[in-house]
Amino acid sequence: MEKLIIEGGRPLEGAVHISGAKNAALPILAASILTAETLCVQNVPRLRDVATTCALLTQMGLWVRQPAAGTIELSAHAIANPLAPYDMVKTMRAAILVLGPLVARCGQARVSLPGGCAIGLRPVDLHIKGLQAMGAEIEIEHGYLIARAKRLRGARIVLDLVTVTGTENLMMAATLAEGTTVLENAAREPEVVDLAQCLNAMGARIAGAGSDVITIEGVECLRGARYRVMPDRIETGTFLVAAAMAGGKIKLEGARDDILDAVLEKLRESGASISAANGAITLEASGRPRAVNVRTAPYPAFPTDMQAQFMALNAIADGTALVTETIFENRFMHAQELKRMGADIEVEGNSAIVRGSAHLDGAMVMATDLRASACLVLAGLVARGETVVDRIYHLDRGYEQLESKLSALGARIRRAG
Ligand code: EPZ
Repeated sequence: MEKLIIEGGRPLEGAVHISGAKNAALPILAASILTAETLCVQNVPRLRDVATTCALLTQMGLWVRQPAAGTIELSAHAIANPLAPYDMVKTMRAAILVLGPLVARCGQARVSLPGGCAIGLRPVDLHIKGLQAMGAEIEIEHGYLIARAKRLRGARIVLDLVTVTGTENLMMAATLAEGTTVLENAAREPEVVDLAQCLNAMGARIAGAGSDVITIEGVECLRGARYRVMPDRIETGTFLVAAAMAGGKIKLEGARDDILDAVLEKLRESGASISAANGAITLEASGRPRAVNVRTAPYPAFPTDMQAQFMALNAIADGTALVTETIFENRFMHAQELKRMGADIEVEGNSAIVRGSAHLDGAMVMATDLRASACLVLAGLVARGETVVDRIYHLDRGYEQLESKLSALGARIRRAG
């Protein structure tokens, strides 16, 4: 099994380029199902989840090719097999994002029901309920969601809670529905906005993306388009926390500060100085960061996908912090691994009290999910001695070339096994 070996204690210096956003690229690739013409997607990160999505779309009958690094062209002339098989869905929950487009375009879909994952139960009941409100008949048979609809029709859907992929699935489905759909209590994440902009470039009529009320006027069909995926705000945040912990000065090129307010505010509170100009963010830090309380919530509040990284920062910070997770019920798996490195953390329900330690010690640690693995890498960058992070396939799902980018900033990190 591949591992990362990190020798801690070096400041980070220099510049790296931020990749395209995983959580925007995946729904945008799925949107290719909605048109018979070619969708050309640029700035696509080279990630395990992107490869899985392309394999999933290819087995459905889409024509998928990569004319250049970071560019994927997809054409759904004909979709012979509107199926998302168990073997693919079990490795990537985001495969659920083909459900809405398949029902809307093909009138039928067979999608393996995603099971739970390391960070929570993660049901998809709101995806199903929304499609049923648009007239789809949905049954569960042998672990598969079987959905049928002659043509979806517009509906007013009030989401019980804010769901990112739920909003994306229903928004995509509604683009080809008869009439107008209104999604209330919709997710406001920048990735939802990126998807809506791509769909509008394909001829959809979507208004209000980025607010909690999205209106979609259905059209007969969508056309092909060329679309550039936004930069990854979670990758950006991860690098910024790395430098705030290790010290030094880094510049993140191709990053956007306007979609990271809550994260930048917490980094400034921890003592880092941050500036943004010409499509780049620069962070400078020295000495121990100050402890900062964080509470996760839907955008524009503090993102749950940055919670683990800030737990690592607080583990070496000056002071005590309260970290509260309100989105997922089991997203503190990294706390136990940090404690193996000497961190002082007490988990109580959906909160953790983190008492900053002057030092962490390198150790063998195990990644349990994507962001937990990033947290352990950050802890390894500042720990005394060597840290070995096991099961890094989690990391490869969401970070493009993390170790070579960190090496370029002066970190001592290498892959083994
Ligand atoms: C998206 O997951 C992201 N994934 C996650 O990023 C991210 O953590 C999450 O949004 C929250 O920001 C992608 O975009 C591919 P949700 P998603 O539906 O859409 C409950 C990463 O690290 N819920 O917004 O699956 C759910 O259980 C990943 O990159 C229902 O109850 O998350 C959770 O408690 C991890 N019923 C809450 O809503 C539903 O039908 C929010 O989940 C749907 C969701």
